[in-house]
Amino acid sequence: MCGIVGYIGEREAQNILVAELKRLEYRGYDSAGIVTLSDSATPTLLRTKGKVAALEELVGQHKTSDTVGIGHTRWATHGEPSKRNAHPHHVGEIYLVHNGIIENYQDLKTMLSGHEYEFKSDTDSEVLAALIDYLRRDSPDLLTAVTGALKMVVGAYGIAVLDTTNPEEIIVARQGSPLIIGVGDGETYIASDASALVGYTNQVVYLHDGEIGRCTRSGLELQTIESQKLDVKIEMLDMDMQAIQKQGFDHFLAKEIYEQPTSLAATLAGRVLPDQKYARLGGLNMSDDELRHVKHIIIVGCGTAYFAGVQASYFIEQLTDDVTISVEIASELRYRAFNVPEHSVAMIVSQSGETADTLACLNELKRRGVKCLGVVNAVGSTIARAVDGGVYLHVGAEISVASTKAFTSQVAALTIFGIMLANAKGTNPQFIDEFVQELAILPSEIQKVLDKQGAEIPSIARAYADYNHALYIGRDTLYPIAMEGALKLKEVSYIHAEAYAAGELKHGPIALIDDHFFEVCYIQDNWLYEKSQSNLIEMNTRGAHAIVITDTTKKVPGETVIRISTKLSHLTPLLFNVVSQLLAYHVAVKRGHDVDQPRNLAKSVTVE
Ligand code: M6R
Repeated sequence: MCGIVGYIGEREAQNILVAELKRLEYRGYDSAGIVTLSDSATPTLLRTKGKVAALEELVGQHKTSDTVGIGHTRWATHGEPSKRNAHPHHVGEIYLVHNGIIENYQDLKTMLSGHEYEFKSDTDSEVLAALIDYLRRDSPDLLTAVTGALKMVVGAYGIAVLDTTNPEEIIVARQGSPLIIGVGDGETYIASDASALVGYTNQVVYLHDGEIGRCTRSGLELQTIESQKLDVKIEMLDMDMQAIQKQGFDHFLAKEIYEQPTSLAATLAGRVLPDQKYARLGGLNMSDDELRHVKHIIIVGCGTAYFAGVQASYFIEQLTDDVTISVEIASELRYRAFNVPEHSVAMIVSQSGETADTLACLNELKRRGVKCLGVVNAVGSTIARAVDGGVYLHVGAEISVASTKAFTSQVAALTIFGIMLANAKGTNPQFIDEFVQELAILPSEIQKVLDKQGAEIPSIARAYADYNHALYIGRDTLYPIAMEGALKLKEVSYIHAEAYAAGELKHGPIALIDDHFFEVCYIQDNWLYEKSQSNLIEMNTRGAHAIVITDTTKKVPGETVIRISTKLSHLTPLLFNVVSQLLAYHVAVKRGHDVDQPRNLAKSVTVE
């Protein structure tokens, strides 16, 4: 949510900042801005509503050769998307870019108004800039002023701050919102997301909560908010250019859908061992004895990560006999008076590893003494660092706001955890073997779907792109897929889409069916086939425009039937999901939407 960049070095900062912002645009894209300082500390502030392309145009008209600057791409929280509310915010001598939320900004604003500060924007971030400027008057340097200001602030932040009286440094700080410092040769980079740094440097420092840094041309000095000096720990950034380029696809969403055979293979590598009829996850920090004692799993996530948890819960239930599972929407769980059953373990699912609600649940579960395991993609992210153990997905950068390849790998990783539990407990060896063998061939089965349905979905999408409503239905293991399919369609095509467990149709939603709706029905040949078919017939009788996604070779009464051919059984829902992804993508393209950056959304939701 929002992207921060910064640069101090010998090169022209404007170009670098804009290039970095383009890479972070998927995190927020309703306004953007940069400020650079000349050697004589003259600022050039450029801000605009809209996308980074608009900012780039502005930069073209106001070129400087300044070598220090900070920038931001915004997803609005306080204040509408506008130039006035865009970052960097300027107050007195201070320029500031901020991700996160300053919760006590109203109180601070009142206090600062008493000291003759006037505010031009509606943002909490401008208040923080004013607070730093106010404290700067009586501080020996910017670092001291920022430290003082942050001690007065309640909330979450990742910030980069420039002082026009000193163009030799940028001060950065983090509390709950990620910041990464890239260390180059005579230059230092700042970014809220590693993808901005790829190609500039592979030496990075991940800031932790409560840390404040001083970035200069010669690197980074680090301290705590209590002004205690810290060692700077440089890590290697493991991400290449390919990961952040479209590689011939029109959109990142398409690239990421088509990447799934390889991204999933990366998740499974070394973990799924079909010859040994076993699968395992290193890094969980759990012995077989500890696994044997697990009686309850709490799976926590938001959006697609939550649906991945629901999907996997069906598989884990099939694999284990004495384990109960609750799958929780993080934004709900965090305020519920929930009870933690004895011998619980929590699985914290998050592609970005930065989702605020998921992180809050993790902290609460840890406080209650629950062992928390992460299922995370972004290496070094906040959740990955805070969990007691866990598994990285290794699917590479997921740039499209709509999550696709992460879902498939999240389900796979959680299913492997189920296999480990079942194995440790000695339950269902037959099922364990079946799941292991299916996981092993899942990447190639997905490839078959991409080859065949990749060719046939565009024309199907054209036929349904003008509807305004869609109903997704599935039973049992196909219900989570229906929910995920509906989410994918609504977020990229803006078609109103709802998902229902097929058995629920008669309890209300069937009343909706009319010519404005199309229906997506998932039907699996070897699993509740007759019951699912009955639901389809009930809908057809009421004039449904049904798209049936199925693996059966039998005759199916749908308006459009999409047949996949597969050797899978348990994991077939994951193939149906790839079909839903393709359908959502092509419908959105047909409707002319910006599929990678859908309206009102941002990739990583780091605020409540
Ligand atoms: O980074 P996370 O996995 O924690 O993100 C969770 C959701 O915000 C995310 O899955 C969101 O629902 C996607 N836009 C779905 O495509």
